[in-house]
Amino acid sequence: MKGVILAGGTGTRLYPLTRLINKHLLPVGRHPMICYGIERLRQAGITNILIIISKQSAGLYTDYFGSGENFGVNLIYRVQESAGGIAEALDLAEGFVGQKEKFVVLLGDNLFLDDLTPFVEKFKQQPLGTAQVLLKSVDDPRRYGVPVFNTDHPKQIVYIEEKPKKPKSKYSVTGIYMYDDSVFHRIKEINRSARGELEITDVNNLYAHHGQLEYSVLQLWWGDAGTFDSLHEAEVRMRGVLP
Ligand code: G1P
Repeated sequence: MKGVILAGGTGTRLYPLTRLINKHLLPVGRHPMICYGIERLRQAGITNILIIISKQSAGLYTDYFGSGENFGVNLIYRVQESAGGIAEALDLAEGFVGQKEKFVVLLGDNLFLDDLTPFVEKFKQQPLGTAQVLLKSVDDPRRYGVPVFNTDHPKQIVYIEEKPKKPKSKYSVTGIYMYDDSVFHRIKEINRSARGELEITDVNNLYAHHGQLEYSVLQLWWGDAGTFDSLHEAEVRMRGVLP
């Protein structure tokens, strides 16, 4: 299985710091933020990794990680020219993912303590054409994509609401997604949202609509380090995760 880490975007919620440096390279403890995602993939046996970056700081990625050899992985980079949303960035992975091949997608600002191995193993057993999202119970789901469950079949997500004012469950859809190459057909089916982006939630809802979206729940701490508060919390929670 391959891995894709999405590390583009402008990181406006972390201005002015992200005017200087790409969000995913900001320090979390002794390491740039994205190191934790690379390590989670490596730990789950996924060593062929594509990182989608923006033009900003592009050279810093190769300066720091090079081919990935010193980090136990093979890294390939692609540049996302515009900030057109998560699904637009993911579409750039099409040439990297082989036919009928499964892969794991991480949003580079998502930091978490769970080992991904059991979730990856579960996904390997799923039929081609289905997807898996990882959920986490959170205090304030309004900041995230929130799953709505089928009341008759609580194991099934009926749809996901993006940043709902009145969330229908206590879960966040985390930025940890598992697909096969059929996701690229679905990305081409969706339209831009009100904020002008191709939304990953719209892609996931195409799966949910056809009963093809499975989920698992993270057991340990998870956060997205997209704001100063969450960045500071990540700093504390991730302490000691990497030597
Ligand atoms: C994105 C997704 C959202 C998800 C979140 C996790 O939101 O759109 O569904 O819950 O990542 O980090 P963003 O932070 O890009 O607004």
